[in-house]
Amino acid sequence: MLFFQQQGRFLSELARSVEDGSLLLLRDAWMRSDDAILNRIQRNWVERSPAELWQAATVELQRLRSFVGVRMTASHAIEVPDQTDASTWIASQFENLRNSFDEEINQCVDEPDLGVTKTAWLGRRSGLVSLVTETQLKRATSELKPIIGRELNKLRAHVESQIEERGAAMESGAEESALARDRIDLSLPGVHRPIGSHHLIRQVFQEIEDIFVSIGFSVVEGPEIETPYYNFEALNIPEFHPVRDDMDTFYLELPKGAATPLLLRTHTSPMQIRTMEKRKPPVRVIVPGKVYRRDNPDATHSFAFHQIEGLAVDTDITFCDFTGTIEYFVKQFFGPSVKTRFRPSYFPFTEPSVEFDVSCPFCGGTGTAASGGTCSKCKGAAWIELFGAGMVDPAVYGFVNYDAKKVSGFAFGIGIDRLAMLKYGIDDIQVFFQNDVRFLRQFP
Ligand code: PHE
Repeated sequence: MLFFQQQGRFLSELARSVEDGSLLLLRDAWMRSDDAILNRIQRNWVERSPAELWQAATVELQRLRSFVGVRMTASHAIEVPDQTDASTWIASQFENLRNSFDEEINQCVDEPDLGVTKTAWLGRRSGLVSLVTETQLKRATSELKPIIGRELNKLRAHVESQIEERGAAMESGAEESALARDRIDLSLPGVHRPIGSHHLIRQVFQEIEDIFVSIGFSVVEGPEIETPYYNFEALNIPEFHPVRDDMDTFYLELPKGAATPLLLRTHTSPMQIRTMEKRKPPVRVIVPGKVYRRDNPDATHSFAFHQIEGLAVDTDITFCDFTGTIEYFVKQFFGPSVKTRFRPSYFPFTEPSVEFDVSCPFCGGTGTAASGGTCSKCKGAAWIELFGAGMVDPAVYGFVNYDAKKVSGFAFGIGIDRLAMLKYGIDDIQVFFQNDVRFLRQFP
């Protein structure tokens, strides 16, 4: 760029010098004196350039020197030495010019470069052809004039045809390289965008949903922020009932004067009420979702976890339907060889209430591991506690305007995290919430 500017500057100074006859001054200013421009460029730009630019700068200066040199030579009248054939001498002078032109045009890499070279040779004012016409042809003796004229015409024709040819080549080359740039290479491997997978909890949800849907249940979902009415009262847990103490509850901070307190649901059971409010029996739903309790995190506790609520209410549902349904589910989920059992339990919204156990699927219900030691999963108990359930307490029907004398049903609440841990041999509930891909990738 800098060298380019110097070329342009030289050409316009040259044109001016030709007009006012100050060529000698121009030559001194550019080439001769110690202070000449080319020497200053050598000292200030080339020699002081950083190591990595030094070579390129040297080449550029060399080009500028020959650019200037060729034009200085061409701006003097041709003098044929004694005893030399004039046409041969003149032809050789033009041969030199032609070589210089060829050199300059060979350095053009793009159309702007070519434009500069074109001006430098064919430009009306400072082009080399004009220069030679002014300084050599017009001032030649009458014997030399026709020879110089002929050589000059040949040179001009060569310059014109070369510039045209090179221009056309660059145009199609530019097109080609644009095409090459835009072409899609189908053989390239492409950018790999890894596709994620469902979280193990979502996979277990899906597995359980599929089992229940296949026996006529439908899936509903509900709010994670609840009122105490749905989370407690309508489930037969009045305000000062002691079981509320078991559910360390997150209450939301609300603006003063809010109509009702709000809390993060402590179980999915509120959806029993919401569902029965909306639907008349028969009702058969499951409710997957997140629930929250103020538990301190450890290997088996987390302040957020997952449940699937189940509810079936109809006119003639018995305890047998209940046990049959649960057993069907457990055998689908853990395999046909597991056994199930109930233990009496208590929930305010079921009566009777049970805890549902499954024979340990890991030791085959023996309590002894294959290695001979105590089974680490059931800790030798042979049974694993799975979830709470029971027949819907008639008191609950009163909250949803069902006729407790006509309908009956069962409900259950499955802890998903616990089930997933059991089934997939995971010993820390926290990994479900850490989003560590090393864990997640194991369940594609
Ligand atoms: N909601 C109970 C809990 O979270 C579980 C349950 C659901 C029990 C339905 C009985 C019937 O502990």
